[in-house]
Amino acid sequence: MPACESLDISKTYLITGAAGFIGCFLSRNLLEKGCRVIGIDNINDYYEVNLKYARLNQLKIFEKFVFVHGDISDKDMITKIFAEYKPDIVVNLAAQAGVRYSIENPDAYIQSNIVGFFNILEACRHHSVGHLVYASSSSVYGANKKVPFTEKDSVDHPVSLYAATKKSNELMAYTYSHLYNISATGLRFFTVYGPLGRPDMAYFGFAQKYFTGEPITIFNNGDFANDLYRDFTYIDDIVKGMEHLLCNPPPGGENEAPHQVFNVGNNRPEKLMVFITTLEKCLSRSIGREVVFDKKFEPMKPGDVPATYASTDLLYQATGFRPTTTIEEGLQKFADWYCEYYRLK
Ligand SMILES: NC(=O)c1ccc[n+]([C@@H]2O[C@H](COP(=O)([O-])OP(=O)(O)OC[C@H]3O[C@@H](n4cnc5c(N)ncnc54)[C@H](O)[C@@H]3O)[C@@H](O)[C@H]2O)c1
Repeated sequence: MPACESLDISKTYLITGAAGFIGCFLSRNLLEKGCRVIGIDNINDYYEVNLKYARLNQLKIFEKFVFVHGDISDKDMITKIFAEYKPDIVVNLAAQAGVRYSIENPDAYIQSNIVGFFNILEACRHHSVGHLVYASSSSVYGANKKVPFTEKDSVDHPVSLYAATKKSNELMAYTYSHLYNISATGLRFFTVYGPLGRPDMAYFGFAQKYFTGEPITIFNNGDFANDLYRDFTYIDDIVKGMEHLLCNPPPGGENEAPHQVFNVGNNRPEKLMVFITTLEKCLSRSIGREVVFDKKFEPMKPGDVPATYASTDLLYQATGFRPTTTIEEGLQKFADWYCEYYRLK
């Protein structure tokens, strides 16, 4: 394992998507350590905007936090922000997320994930940024059958436009890294969950449906023998992994661009039904009475994949870190937060 540099708190970190789930937790972690953080977010209404403001409220208490309400697809704005704040390290998390919504509203994906990311790359090219870290996704593995997924596996068959934009980001970042010697790290996140998480994700939606008295729909064909597997990764593990990687830009070498892609997942896939029954138990503990979801089963949706399973060997080799949080621990923290935030106790 190479010597791992620790976080440099004298640097300025620019984080796009700072009002988002991962962006908020990463920003808070850096601010708590004393770093200066410039956060950008367009606060779009893809999901409950109040949650984005609640996250921002947690960041605004820090003196070294600056918030810019703006869209990364606005090139002039991005150029000005880079000129004004001269970030040393850039973390691009702003994106249109979600697999299913890319079937309904493909334009949002091209605008934020392709045009927006291109603007970030151009800005990094024209300002000397020490390290660009950007969000990719486990969805780039498409319907790959070989598990666990390793960074060397072929990712040429994305099964949603969302996945195609993330794969495109990896290619674009590689090219900029190669042409302009920009150190860049792509992170393939695997189903991230936790308090203040995303309401469009299944676990969050299940909790919401339970408390509004609606059935939950599970898209696994009702086939428990061949259930879907997901590598659920708790938000604190994602932030720890990112913190390790932020301060260790890929060095590159002779004929080698300083670009690297890492899986950031749990290496411990769970059957969807196990995840759901664990969530029932955690919510039961949070509110002090038994929670049982009313379950409806339907076939998988286009763009969904049967399994995600991360190899975390590369992450471990580079940083000495692997995610460790079990779904019992992580879902309990989510359930406790959920019941308190929505005043259900
Ligand atoms: N959460 C997961 O399980 C997961 C898994 C794989 C990849 N990712 C990727 O990680 C990143 C962060 O995900 P998240 O879960 O925090 O999502 P999120 O939707 O909570 O956060 C993204 C934030 O970016 C903002 N945003 C979107 N488009 C923008 C634009 N054009 N300009 C400025 N701001 C914009 C949104 O308002 C939002 O607050 C995304 O790139 C996502 O695709 C997340």
